[in-house]
Amino acid sequence: MAAYEYETHQYDVVVVGAGGAGLRATLGMAEQGLRTACITKVFPTRSHTVAAQGGIAASLSNMGPDHWQWHMYDTVKGSDWLGDTDAMEYLAREAPAAVYELEHYGVPFSRTEEGRIYQRPFGGHTTEFGEGPPVQRTCAAADRTGHAILHTLYGQSLKQKAEFYIEYFAIDLLMAEDGTCEGVLAWKLDDGTMHVFAAKMVVLATGGYGRAYFSATSAHTCTGDGNGMIARAGLPLQDMEFVQFHPTGIYGAGCLITEGARGEGGYLTNSEGERFMERYAPTYKDLASRDVVSRCMTMEIREGRGVGNDKDHIHLHLNHLPPETLNERLPGISESARIFAGVDVTKEPIPVLPTVHYNMGGIPTNYWGEVLNPTDDSPDAVAPGLMAVGEAGCASVHGANRLGSNSLIDLVVFGRAAAIRAGQVVDRSRAIPTPPRAAIDKALERFDTLRHADGGTPTAELRLEMQKVMQSDAAVFRTDKTLAEGVQKMTAVAGKMADIKVTDRSLVWNSDLMETLELTNLMPNALATVVAAEARKESRGAHAHEDWPDRNDEEWRKHSLAWIDGAEVRLDYRPVHLDPLTNAEEGGIDLKKIAPKARVY
Ligand code: FUM
Repeated sequence: MAAYEYETHQYDVVVVGAGGAGLRATLGMAEQGLRTACITKVFPTRSHTVAAQGGIAASLSNMGPDHWQWHMYDTVKGSDWLGDTDAMEYLAREAPAAVYELEHYGVPFSRTEEGRIYQRPFGGHTTEFGEGPPVQRTCAAADRTGHAILHTLYGQSLKQKAEFYIEYFAIDLLMAEDGTCEGVLAWKLDDGTMHVFAAKMVVLATGGYGRAYFSATSAHTCTGDGNGMIARAGLPLQDMEFVQFHPTGIYGAGCLITEGARGEGGYLTNSEGERFMERYAPTYKDLASRDVVSRCMTMEIREGRGVGNDKDHIHLHLNHLPPETLNERLPGISESARIFAGVDVTKEPIPVLPTVHYNMGGIPTNYWGEVLNPTDDSPDAVAPGLMAVGEAGCASVHGANRLGSNSLIDLVVFGRAAAIRAGQVVDRSRAIPTPPRAAIDKALERFDTLRHADGGTPTAELRLEMQKVMQSDAAVFRTDKTLAEGVQKMTAVAGKMADIKVTDRSLVWNSDLMETLELTNLMPNALATVVAAEARKESRGAHAHEDWPDRNDEEWRKHSLAWIDGAEVRLDYRPVHLDPLTNAEEGGIDLKKIAPKARVY
């Protein structure tokens, strides 16, 4: 191996990733006086949270009656009863305070006539424990809510003197012999230098892995880097089979058209001009939850009622909405539709298609963001020195399907929770650990091997192969056959990593090498997804299995765990948390309200 020098940095806390969750955690840590660094492969305000459009869910009751328990009920039902009850209670209860905190930090929310935060309807958010009309719960800054939140949190983090290491690519976790995480090795992209970040706590806020698929609303940077590092550290990933397809990605381009478009009154039609959602979800129609709408669209297309020359997509109509609504509430998607679909939304429908959007699975954590290292005897055992938040983490609040606008609230509620917890468990008086030399050498060796990889398969070619397999075999609808083929093909694709070819051997701005490192992260994510999906013999949330069309709570109301080693995956399971944080007598939810039942909208 070539000799690599490295610089060592010491912090109480190192956060990897500067999206909404990473920045909220960074800010919270720094506010408490913890010496905090945030390392990020892109400039913070370019993180993928910037693309979040429609809003952030919280039961503020600004537009009509709402209650945190109704929000919790909707989240439980949305998760198809796979979410952890304690985490879902924490999310719904803490959401209003977390949004007001954002308001006070300076997020420029849209306003009602009375000056309150504007809230719009979103799919699956209801009143009266699913018995009442849709609720306006999603707080919005027009259709650029993520953009507004990200800029505000970055400014506040700088104000609190958090230190940022921008355009540093995290290579691997530095684990001690006893399984404690003691830091992370990173590569500075603009000068090629290596950096060891030693820390008492490492927080992974690295986002999802949408780019394992061919068509995704996710940025090209969404390569599941934290999940990849976890897999290489010998820790499991959880519930990876649950991949969300957003109903309205622009046909062809894949860019997001917010669910807020339907929240503001938009609707879907098939080739017969029929508002088909009325047939499938008579109560909530186009505002049923995402997995339901995506499946209905796919069924319409499969039954020959798709639109366009190839009858392979669906129309989203906004042209009946008042121009003021489009200008004030949906300016961003009006522009996206013009640029990416050539459509004037005031006159024509937007061509849309269900598109990969979100990963419900990820790094298992408790609701404080502490990473779990489950064993049979101790399914909630904590991995010391390690936290995960945001889309990378799996607390699990979203279970088998996430409700729209529950992602932004997840980022800030659990980013904040991680900071509170770190404030309790990080001993400020203790010396910062020295990560073991063997762990640093192992990470450098992996880097060097990839840098000099001289096989026959270019990174872009193998990535495309992976994306095509995932798109066709781990799709909206799955069967025993497609999944078995998917496992076989993905195992072969992962095996080809040994034949990877990197052409550029330099250390400065080497995008060839960086994309290869990203591919080594995408690969375990993709593999775990298809293997866990093949094993799950039921349908639940986003996992729609045609050979096993019913949810089977008796056998399958459990979290899957996947340990990935190269092209091999070992599966096991851990129980879902059924107990809430607060019992009904003390003001908590009545458990009868959230007992499993058929999920209809
Ligand atoms: O449709 C949207 O605006 C996306 C929101 C979300 O994924 O939460």
